[in-house]
Amino acid sequence: MIVTIDGVAASGKSSVSGGVARALGIPYVSSGLLYRAATLLGLDAGLDLGDPGALLAHLSSHPVRLEPLAEGNRVWRADRELTDDLHSTRVDKGVSVVAAHPQVRAWVDDQLRALPEPFVAEGRDMGTAVFPHAQHKFYLTASARIRAERRAKERPDDIPDIEAALIRRDELDANQIAPAADAQVLDTGPMTLDEVITTILRAVRA
Ligand code: DC
Repeated sequence: MIVTIDGVAASGKSSVSGGVARALGIPYVSSGLLYRAATLLGLDAGLDLGDPGALLAHLSSHPVRLEPLAEGNRVWRADRELTDDLHSTRVDKGVSVVAAHPQVRAWVDDQLRALPEPFVAEGRDMGTAVFPHAQHKFYLTASARIRAERRAKERPDDIPDIEAALIRRDELDANQIAPAADAQVLDTGPMTLDEVITTILRAVRA
């Protein structure tokens, strides 16, 4: 069984996926971490992130392993754990360029499709491109303002700046984000995290 949870940036996908996975007693898979790992390795090797051929050659000789645990995903390259470096500002800045390369998307998709079921898969295109046959599909949205307010609680920056950055991010990610025709779309704006998790669990268990 595969449950897919896609949605826009800062829509709460990771927290929701983790909560759903823990309640179901299965792992969740954060596809964004593989895009982040590809970006980090490219930056560390001094590669041009706009050159998919160089990135792919480097990734093939430095295999990356995603460890999908219910309590949080970890990413490894050989014996080096990359997890803590994947949310740095330089990775944030480069990852949209890297995720736009079809060759990198194929590299990520191959790794995801090799994982043993069951799991909850979280990302932008889990219910469309990667697991079109998943049994349960959800798509999370919320207005840019509400997402900025939520993010500002974690990082007390200026809400208008965060909102503008989220809108730019939505535009950069736009090719990858559209709900699957058979996904249940949840506007999480008026919902608490627990309400979103409960709604998904009810649908999965029905
Ligand atoms: O969810 P996240 O912020 O960790 O995602 C990091 C980047 O990877 C973001 O720019 C969107 C991209 N991404 C993607 O294109 N497709 C996915 N399935 C997951 C993430």
